[in-house]
Amino acid sequence: MIGLKIVPMAKKVISPGGTLSGVAELPGDKSISHRCAILAALAEGTSEIRNYASAADCRSTLECLKQLGVAVDASAERIRIGGVGLDGLKAPRRALDAENSGTTIRMLAGVLAGQPFTSTLTGDASLRKRPMARIATPLRQMGALITGVDGDRAPLEIRGGRLHAIDYALPVASAQVKSAVLLAGLFAEGVTTVRESVRTRDHTELALREFGASLEVERGTARIHPRPKLQARQIAVPGDLSAAVFLIGAALVLPASELLLHDVGLNPTRTRVLDFLIGMGAAINVASLQSRDGELVGDIAVRHSPLEGGAISGAHVAEMIDELPMIAALGPYTEKGIEIRDAKELRVKESDRIAALAEGLRRMGASVEEFPDGLRVAGRAAGKLRGAKVDPQGDHRIAMALAVAALGAEGDSTILDADCAAVSFPEFFATLARLREPRRRLRRNT
Ligand code: S3P
Repeated sequence: MIGLKIVPMAKKVISPGGTLSGVAELPGDKSISHRCAILAALAEGTSEIRNYASAADCRSTLECLKQLGVAVDASAERIRIGGVGLDGLKAPRRALDAENSGTTIRMLAGVLAGQPFTSTLTGDASLRKRPMARIATPLRQMGALITGVDGDRAPLEIRGGRLHAIDYALPVASAQVKSAVLLAGLFAEGVTTVRESVRTRDHTELALREFGASLEVERGTARIHPRPKLQARQIAVPGDLSAAVFLIGAALVLPASELLLHDVGLNPTRTRVLDFLIGMGAAINVASLQSRDGELVGDIAVRHSPLEGGAISGAHVAEMIDELPMIAALGPYTEKGIEIRDAKELRVKESDRIAALAEGLRRMGASVEEFPDGLRVAGRAAGKLRGAKVDPQGDHRIAMALAVAALGAEGDSTILDADCAAVSFPEFFATLARLREPRRRLRRNT
C-alpha cells in the first residue's frame, strides 16, 4: 500500500544547569564546504576534502553535483570529488533539490546559468519561500533565462547559455549573491566585476584562488577572469565558527564553564561575533592562528563570564548574520540586554528569524520588543527565563539558540522539531550533552 510517510519530528528536552567543560569537536565550515565541493566539481582531476561539513545543507550540494554527473565519494573521512572541468557538467534528469540550503540553490544557479542546458533548482517549503530575484536579476543581465514562480521564488528553471560579463553592484549585502555572480563569471565572456558596499564573507574569492582561478580583489570589488583551468586540490576545511558560537553561547550561560575549540575557521569576514562578545565582557581567547588552504584557522578558549549587553546595527549585521540568533538569545543573560537593528534580512532566512526568536524567547518569559528590522531583548533585570515548550519553526539556528537559552532557565524546556539542527550542526545536542557530562557525574558523586 502506498501511504503518506509520516516522519516523526524529534523534540529535545533541555534541563537547565551544570557546567560545560572540555574540548569540543566542530563540524567543518558549512560555507567553505559548499564552495570547495562546487569548485572541485568544476576542476580538472580528483580533489580530496578533509573535514567536509556534516551539515545537511552541504550534503544537499553534493547530491545536486551528483545529478550533474560529478563523481562524489563521501564514504571516507576525506571526501573525493572527481572534477569534470568547466565544460563537463551533464544536464540533470530531474530537478535539483537544494532542500533547506540557500547557499546551494544560489551558488549553483550561478554555475547553471553558464551551462549549455536547461535545469531546474528547487528546495523544501522554507527555501521555496525565500527571495531568489536577488540572483535571478544579475544572472539574467549576464544572459541566462530564468523563470521562477510567484515573483522569482523556487523552483527556478534556468536556461543557461553564453553569458557576458557584467559590472554588478550588490543591492543587498549577500555573499550568496556575490558568489553566484562570480561563479557565473567563470563562464562569461569578459571580466565580471562584483562590488559590495558592505563587507560579506569572502570564502568564494579565497576558494576560487585556491583552485587556480584568476581573480582580483580590492576594497569591496572582485573581478573574475573567465574560463580558467581549475585544478583539483587537497583541502582541509576548518571548523565552523557559526556552529562554534552555539557552544560558546552555552559556556557563557552556564557558570564556571570552560571550553576549548580547536581548529576553528577565523576568516576576518566571520569573526566580528567574537569581537562583539569580547566587547561585552566574554572571556574569549584566540590562539595558534595560522593560514591553511587560503583560510585562517585557530583555537578558541572561552570561559564563563558576566556579559554587559550591547547593540548591533549597520555593517556589523552582515558580518554576524548567522550568529544573530545566538546573540539575541543571550540577551536575558546580559546586564543591559541585546538590541539588533538594520537586520531585516533575518526575516528571509530559513525562517523569519526575528519573529521566531521573539516568539520563542517570550514563551520563556523574556521581555522582547520586535521591530521591522530587528529586536530588543531585555537583560537580567527583566527576570530569569523559565522553561517552556518552544517551536524553532524548522530553523536550525533558532533551535540551537533557544536550546542554549534554555540552559539557564528555571525548569525544563522542550525544543520541538529539534532535529532541524542537523541542517548545520548535526552533532550539536550530542556535543552539548558530552561537554556537560563530567559535571553531572561529579554532582551525582558528591
Ligand atoms: C552564506 C551567506 C549568508 C549566510 C548563509 C551562508 C554563504 O547568506 O546567512 O548562512 O555561505 O555564502 P546571505 O548571502 O543570504 O547573506
